[in-house]
Formats: sequence, C-alpha cells, structure tokens
Amino acid sequence: MNSNQYLRDNYAPVPEEHTVTDLEVTGHIPEHLDGRYLRNGPNPISEVDPAGYHWFMGDGMVHGVRLRDGRAQWYRNRWVRSPAAAAALGERPTRHNYRAGGAAIGANTNVIGHAGRTIALIEGGAANYTLTEELDTLGPCDFGGTLTGGYTAHPKRDPATGELHAVSYHYGRGNTVQYSVIGADGRARRTVDIRVTGSPMMHDFALTENHVVFYDLPVTFDARDAAEIAVPRWMRWPTRLVMSALIGRIRVPDPISARIGDMSLKANAGLPYTWDLSYPARVGVMPRDGDSNDVRWFEVDPCYVFHTLNAYDEGDTIVCDVVRHHTMFAKDPHGPDDGTPSRLHRWTIDLTHNKISETQLDDCEQEFPRADERLLGRRHRYGYSLHADTAAIRRHDLVNATHTSRSLGTGAQGSEFVFVPNSGNTSEDDGILMGYVYDAATERSNLTILDAASLETVATVHIPVRVPHGFHGNWISA
Ligand SMILES: [Fe+2]
Repeated sequence: MNSNQYLRDNYAPVPEEHTVTDLEVTGHIPEHLDGRYLRNGPNPISEVDPAGYHWFMGDGMVHGVRLRDGRAQWYRNRWVRSPAAAAALGERPTRHNYRAGGAAIGANTNVIGHAGRTIALIEGGAANYTLTEELDTLGPCDFGGTLTGGYTAHPKRDPATGELHAVSYHYGRGNTVQYSVIGADGRARRTVDIRVTGSPMMHDFALTENHVVFYDLPVTFDARDAAEIAVPRWMRWPTRLVMSALIGRIRVPDPISARIGDMSLKANAGLPYTWDLSYPARVGVMPRDGDSNDVRWFEVDPCYVFHTLNAYDEGDTIVCDVVRHHTMFAKDPHGPDDGTPSRLHRWTIDLTHNKISETQLDDCEQEFPRADERLLGRRHRYGYSLHADTAAIRRHDLVNATHTSRSLGTGAQGSEFVFVPNSGNTSEDDGILMGYVYDAATERSNLTILDAASLETVATVHIPVRVPHGFHGNWISA
C-alpha cells in the first residue's frame, strides 16, 4: 500500500488517456443538456516520490463527458500539456509563453468555458492552458496578452455582465494580490493590486453585486519548503536567503517571477505553503470599483477557507457563506487534511458598525460547496456540498436552516457536484446536480445526475474506466 494517501485507492493516477463513445446510460438525461461536463484534477504522469508528493501538485488531467439529445456521446481524459508534461509523455514540448505564468506544472485545479474557449486553470503564478473542445492542449492562456503572471482557479462570473472577476496570488507579487476583471470578450479590462500582509495562498474570494471580499488567511509561502522542493542541495541555503528577503516585500516583474516560480514549484512534488500562526487572519471588503486604499479589513479567528458557497449584499451588510477549516497544512504535508472538520460557516460583515460575526451553519463535515450561479453575488437560499468522506451529497436550505443528505451508495465515493438550471426562466433550485462518482467495488466511475431539489437520481452515465478524485468542474453548454 502506498504510504501517501493521495497516491492510493481512487486518488491514484490513471495511466492512460481514453476516448470512449456512446456511453451506457441508466435513467433519462434531460434533453436540454447540450454540452460538456468537464472536471480537472491531479494525475502524475510518471512515478513520484510518495514522501514528497502533495495532492495539489500533480500533473493536470481533465475528464469530460459530452451530453446531447439525451445521450452521452463521449468520455475523454487528457493530460494538460505543460512543457514538462509533454516531455514526460514523449512528445515534443511546445515553446512556453512566460507572460502567461510559470511552466513548472500543467493546470490541474479547475476548467471553465469563457469567450468561446475552454481553459484549464491553476493558481500561484503557474500558467493556465487553452484546450480544444475535445480537451487537447492548444497552449498557455494569457487572455490575449492582457493578463500576465498567472490567474486563479476560482474566477466568478457575474451573471449580469458575463464578466469574470478573480483574485490572483503569487509570491512574486510581493505583498500584493491582484484583483482582475476579464470581459465577456475574454480580455482583461481591469487589474488592481491589493496590499496584503505578506504572501498568502488566496485560493478563493467572494463577489457580491457591490463588493469584492478578500481572504487574507494564515497559509503562506514558505521559502524553506520551496528551496527544499525544487533546488539542488548545494543551492538551498542561498536560495532560501534570497527568497526570504524577497517574499511578501518585493514585486518582481511577471515574466521574471514566472521563471523564479519555476525554481520553487515543481510538478508532482511538495507544496511550498504552510500554516503560519504569526500571520494575522483577516477578511477584506472593497467596493467593486475601488482600489487597495478602499479595502476595509476585519480580523477573524485563525482559520483557512478554500471555498465560497456564495455571498451577497444586504443593505450595509455582506453575507458570505464559506467552508471553514480550523487549520490547514499544519499537520499533513501531503494534502488538505489536518484532522479537523471543515464546516459551512457564515461571515456577516456589518459595514456600518465595522464588525464581522461568524456563525456555523451546519455541524456536518463538508467541502466543495456550490450554488445556483445565476445568483452569484445575489441572495441565495440553497447550496450543495460534498459530505464528509465523499459518501453523500448535501443540500442546504439556508432560509429554513435545514440540511438533507443523499447517500451515493455503499462503496461509492463522490466529488464536487455542480448545479445546472433546467431550461427556461426557472427558479432557484430548479435544476440538476452533476458530478463523478467512483464505485470501489467495480473500480469504475460514472457521471451521476441528480434532481437538485429532491436529490433523487435522474440519470447515470456509466464510464468504463476510473475517474480519480480531483478538484473542480463545470458544465459548459454547447
Ligand atoms: Fe478550489
């Protein structure tokens, strides 16, 4: 048995790319579903050192199912071709565009459709990659040369404008993170540097109709880890000294920091970010059209937040629903498992009285929260998440404070489920949820489609291979 839990069972990488057509379906796929469900995740190409491997650092692989006319036309899985991934696969590496970000790792965290493109996403200064409809890699994505130095795995699409709002971090940015707005045309129209305390991992943020909410929390870049991960032994001490002098202080030009980043990030190795109790935990609120000077910061108890369910304005108050971890990367050097539960919390930020309060909304351990994204930044009532141990999908009614769970079955292991509205101008919660489910008994996966309101199964698309556990996915309409 592999000593690293992120390399065994359904975390283990699959060794091949597959193209399977006309998949077997149980139940009835709604006819309005015309598009692709795509999901990204780590899948190391070559043998890795289990002692050093962190789940967040595996070579990216996108898994997709094409649905049309009630049928499942194909399943494909494709590695994202970073230069190193292409070389490991015995292919000729393409020339890298360092304006797009570092070349050390193929985008492995999320995959979206925007402005007619399919884009595999990652964060921390590494480059994102544009894919074809059939998931082959076209090359690094810098949004038409308008956005440099990497992006984020969690952009948020404003339903009113179709624009993507994002917060990007990378230690080469000094003590700043970057807020950006990419237009519906796929080009950045606004970038703003926001001052933070140091060099945090800012995996997600929140967007309301009027505000941007930043999570400046105590998981920060660790120069010692970075030097040990990616630098030859004799270079580690000087590298650590130089990095320690720079990190969180000096802003390095993007193409240069991308190359420096490649010296500290290495695919299929460790993650140079750790829990840092000396770092103040703060939540920042900025008007959407503001800048760094307009951010109001609110101290919170030390914690880490990977994911926002949704957020909205309510007069002079901001309601922000997140999954809160008590600590992160304090104990387990291989992945997001500190042995403390992650629970759905609500931050209520009162801008009139300058205070923030926190309420636990559910005592069940969970992650991968999603909501009806037609209401992104607007008041939501419902949300969905993956129950502890991946065994069930949880539905939250946040008005009535009730929660229901749907078990995925004995031996079944779920993943993030995404909400897709039914056709027409339907109300919140009128739609389906979809995501990959792994069956340990058969060692195969399926794409499960649930009714979002009842959590009853609508259809199951049977995939004749295994889809390893991964991160984030989206439904991309044709
Ligand atoms: Fe995430």
